Amino acid sequence: MAETSQHVQFVAWLRAVAPYIHAFRGKTIVVAFGGELVTAGRLNALVQDLSLLHAMGMRLVLVFGSRPQVDEQMTLRGAQSRYHKGMRVTDPIALECAKEAAGETRLDIEAAFSQGLPNTPMAHSTVRVISGNFVTARPVGIVDGVDFEQTGLVRKVDVQTIRLALSSGALVLLPPLGFSPTGEAFNLAMEDVACSTAIALDADKLIFLTPSGGITDEAGELISEIAEGPARRLLEGGQLDADTADTLQFALRACDGGVARAHIVPMGVDGSVLLELFLHDGVGSMVVEETLEELREAASDDVGGIIALIRPLEEDGTLVKRDRGLIEREVENFTVIEHDGVIFGCAALYGFTEDHMGELACLAVNPKVQGQGDGERLLQRIEQRAKAAGLDRLFVLTTRTGHWFLKRGFTPGTPDDLPRARKNLYNWQRKSLVLIKRLS
Ligand SMILES: CC(C)(COP(=O)(O)OP(=O)(O)OC[C@H]1O[C@@H](n2cnc3c(N)ncnc32)[C@H](O)[C@@H]1OP(=O)(O)O)[C@@H](O)C(=O)NCCC(=O)NCCS
Repeated sequence: MAETSQHVQFVAWLRAVAPYIHAFRGKTIVVAFGGELVTAGRLNALVQDLSLLHAMGMRLVLVFGSRPQVDEQMTLRGAQSRYHKGMRVTDPIALECAKEAAGETRLDIEAAFSQGLPNTPMAHSTVRVISGNFVTARPVGIVDGVDFEQTGLVRKVDVQTIRLALSSGALVLLPPLGFSPTGEAFNLAMEDVACSTAIALDADKLIFLTPSGGITDEAGELISEIAEGPARRLLEGGQLDADTADTLQFALRACDGGVARAHIVPMGVDGSVLLELFLHDGVGSMVVEETLEELREAASDDVGGIIALIRPLEEDGTLVKRDRGLIEREVENFTVIEHDGVIFGCAALYGFTEDHMGELACLAVNPKVQGQGDGERLLQRIEQRAKAAGLDRLFVLTTRTGHWFLKRGFTPGTPDDLPRARKNLYNWQRKSLVLIKRLS
């Protein structure tokens, strides 16, 4: 068959997602969405995407909300919904409505997972859905003099049974309801169920699908990745809308509880879960669990720490000796990893804007903490900085660390591939390898 550009594109695309498929196999992911997704008619598309992830070997827990459905039921009964501090007050009628809405949505989800028509993404899919009394709840009680009645909070998640179900290859479905040892049902926030379950399972990811999707900075730009500390400061800043702030609170609670990554993605974008998982920058915001270390751009106070870190590497010839004055003058080119006031890692970016290229230089991690992913985090930050500066290729000159870079998407080049200004400075005695990475 003639090789068309479509074939080439298809193969390139499939190969590009392969690393993510390998990385996510066997990982536990909790996906949570509000009832708005169902009313917007997006349930089928989500179910198709989740079936695909399930087929790739991901262990999925799906949590749903049903606030608009409960409101609808309440209106049908001529009852008034009551809220306090954004939480529903669940009186006996509201509880009946909540049970009905949750039951109906649960059946719709189970039906959607049972599809298997040929010529649809669900052909040959066999996703078994297991739901049950996995969440123990306790009452919210009386707050500010308001009795929340049957509105509850998650007290415990039956991790053992959920793990068993996941290990059997099933997808676990959790409604926004929990039960107490007294045999009562409680109406729960789906975010609370999702967050508590993700923490209890020590999930690798928690994904919230929300109407607004993602968090934005002061300039209104989507923040695709944010660490816990800056996310908390953003919340305290008070500029986020109430719903986004609320979801971010839960995302942070999850990270605090040990979930490595919590994502907030737009429910209105078709395939948003796939885009978030398989594209480098995704389409939403990812909140990352903060290690005690902080990854940040360097300031003049860091010069001493950077020099202390790179001196031994310069002495043994791994790094080229850098002029101290130059480091001071160009310290803003550096990104550092600091832990308790000590610089444990650094890397610098030098832009050659005319050639749309950037040099990654001076990448170093303290030998005491090597092998924990700091090198990778520094590289990712430098890539982000390079992209933000409008550069489309990153190069590095190395004599001993070639394999490390090759494993991270760099490919061999020659000194001729370097920007002219840099080529003139190339040290032919040192015979460094030239490695180049295209920034997607
Ligand atoms: C290269 C360096 C920055 C990596 O930092 P790190 O925090 O250990 O990196 P990560 O934790 O992200 O990656 C560790 C992995 O890289 C591997 N690795 C470390 N040094 C390597 C090297 N020189 N060549 C190939 N692989 C290497 C480790 O074995 C480990 O592999 P594993 O994940 O399969 O166990 C660090 O080893 C370092 O400071 N080296 C000395 C300075 C240097 O060579 N800088 C590059 C100058 S161009």
